[in-house]
Amino acid sequence: MSISVNQQAKVFHLQTAHSSYIFHVMANGDLGQLYFGRKIHVKDHYDNLAKRERREAMVSWGNDVDDFQPDNLKTEYAAFGRGDFRDPAYQIAAENGSRISELAYAGYHIDEGKARLSELPSAFGQPSEGVQTLTIDLADPLTGLQASLHYSVFEQEDVIVRSTTFSNLSDNKIILRRAMSAQLDLPDSRFQMISFAGSWARERQEVKNALKPGIQSVGSLRTASSHQENPFIMLARPETTEDTGDVFAFNLIYSGNFLDQVEVNHYDLTRVLIGIHPEEFAWTLDPNESFQTPEAVLSFSKQGFNQLSQQLTNFYANHLVNPRFAKQSRPILVNNWEATYFDFNEDKLLAIAKKAAELGIELFVLDDGWFGHRDDDHTSLGDWFVDKKKLPQGLPHLADAVHGLGLKFGLWFEPEMISMASELYKKHPDWLIASPKRQPIAGRNQYVLDFTRNEIVDAVFQMMAQRIEESHLDYVKWDMNRYITDMFGSELPADRQLEMAHRYILGVYHLYQRLIDRFPDVLFESCASGGGRFDLGMMYYAPQAWTSDNTDALSRIQIQYGTSYGYAPSMMGAHVSDVPNYQTGRITPLSTRGRVAYFGDLGYELDITKLSEKEQQEIKKQVAFYKRHRQLFQFGTFYRLQSPFAGDKNVASWEVVNADRTLAITARYQFLNRPNPAYLRLYFKGLSPDRLYRINGSEETFFGDELENAGYAVDQILDINQPMTASADFSAHLFIAQAVE
Ligand code: DGJ
Repeated sequence: MSISVNQQAKVFHLQTAHSSYIFHVMANGDLGQLYFGRKIHVKDHYDNLAKRERREAMVSWGNDVDDFQPDNLKTEYAAFGRGDFRDPAYQIAAENGSRISELAYAGYHIDEGKARLSELPSAFGQPSEGVQTLTIDLADPLTGLQASLHYSVFEQEDVIVRSTTFSNLSDNKIILRRAMSAQLDLPDSRFQMISFAGSWARERQEVKNALKPGIQSVGSLRTASSHQENPFIMLARPETTEDTGDVFAFNLIYSGNFLDQVEVNHYDLTRVLIGIHPEEFAWTLDPNESFQTPEAVLSFSKQGFNQLSQQLTNFYANHLVNPRFAKQSRPILVNNWEATYFDFNEDKLLAIAKKAAELGIELFVLDDGWFGHRDDDHTSLGDWFVDKKKLPQGLPHLADAVHGLGLKFGLWFEPEMISMASELYKKHPDWLIASPKRQPIAGRNQYVLDFTRNEIVDAVFQMMAQRIEESHLDYVKWDMNRYITDMFGSELPADRQLEMAHRYILGVYHLYQRLIDRFPDVLFESCASGGGRFDLGMMYYAPQAWTSDNTDALSRIQIQYGTSYGYAPSMMGAHVSDVPNYQTGRITPLSTRGRVAYFGDLGYELDITKLSEKEQQEIKKQVAFYKRHRQLFQFGTFYRLQSPFAGDKNVASWEVVNADRTLAITARYQFLNRPNPAYLRLYFKGLSPDRLYRINGSEETFFGDELENAGYAVDQILDINQPMTASADFSAHLFIAQAVE
């Protein structure tokens, strides 16, 4: 039983394997937050945790309860305008314009398992997996507003998923002006907030700051989770390390505008709010209508960041990612984008595919430029029919040839977009998002289709479905290369315009769901100019995402390292590309590029036909090596060992360990060589302390506890004839710990 309820004292205690989450009903009927953190015993009540003193110069709730001061309390889902002056979890506007409401406890029920949401990506779980869902009903009799707070407890993975459903039980309309997915009030502010900021080509770089009084937040108003910020954040005690200490994780299963806000108030209480960004949101509830927020993922670890990431990874594999693919080996692909850009014909593509098959690669992906008349990025988005100039025999012909080589075949789409130079635009100039009479702003010379309109989503579905069907596609890369401006819904009334951004994302999800329902065996990879939509909403539909357009091995170490805090290696598309690298101009060894890309879903994105025989042979070996250890790289337990964001930022290392701890692969990356360096040892993690291991087939054997605590010597002296054997610039070394039989 992961949910314990004391019906008399109205105390709710949610327990996962290692954490407790406790709240209760307070004197005013509101929900008070009592505790979230390390697991503690279930008791009848926790009066001590709820203790509050009356403080001066504060408003009090109710005329006769003057020691009940909302600004002084920790609550579960705060209202606006009733004495709690922190930002609220929700706010309404009633028909008469009043923004005041007050939700009081009205009952609860527990469901076994966790059902999927119908229109949104969501967590799911079976009763047999120990998953339970608690719903607390709250009601405001004066406005007729009802809210249900949902808490799903994923006991084994140490995750709690929260969301809120609002219903209008009045005869009047109620406008939701803010509807956050979750609120968490913590008793003090001694935390570092860790977030992942960036931009195109440098996504998810770790940012760490001590909390300060007032509001600190990350968010997006780009109608995408964005390159710039990510919905995944952590709050960690200052002393927390990769292996020890308390840390909380927060993420949102959503791909649109979001806000993760942390507010520290005058009593040092910390309030976390996570949900749809209220700036670009309002939702009108007519009588009897409901609104469901996206789901928020909350998780706690007392064993540092690695443990937290691992429990999240388990949660994604068991309860978020499409089960058809969640634990399924992902194919090694070759993508023609950086090999040819728009300049290809069937011969060129087939030459790459043929070479790919020879090298052991498994999937050929035809990227941008196969449709309409797309020779550059000015035209043809929306015209999802083949460009006969480039592929005169059509897509099915190419697909057959690729399949004939024993490869899977995948295709690129950018379903949400439209070029003005397109047949689609000629036919439907009113399908793009634009504000009346105003020229919409272009991004990469393209515009955005109004996915709030069913007929548009349906037309795109029909075109995509035809292509998928006729070419028997095995894989689809769904790209999205600009953020949304000129937000206006031509079909939405004036007073519902603030629904547009959320409705747009619902349209995207709807199309994904329709395609998956129709083509359950097609693997989707999401992409948004690289990693601009690397979020849990996308991962629900597309089990992997293109991590970044920056394929430079050194940049990728940072990007993948940052991403690994909140996401799984199997979610990260990781490709070996050409040198000098297109984004950084850097020349890194092919071995380094491979050894970085191994720690994700390996792919190649360069013209492999133009490589020397030696390079081709090296790739063949990489592919064979990756296949041998694919399960480990994609689904092994991942440990961060040395951060490229810490110290002198010159070294990074990470490790994957298999389930029975008989095999671990550690990679150590050195950015620049240091002459005559200090002695170095590499410390493994996650091994069996009592087992003996060989490192890279060494004669000497090492106990697991020895490798973890005493470490393994790293060669330092540069042999100029074999630069990759030591700590040369841009070097990468693998240390394979294999248990002795
Ligand atoms: C951006 C993506 O991130 C690239 O991988 C590639 O698909 C291009 N778009 C194609 O336009």
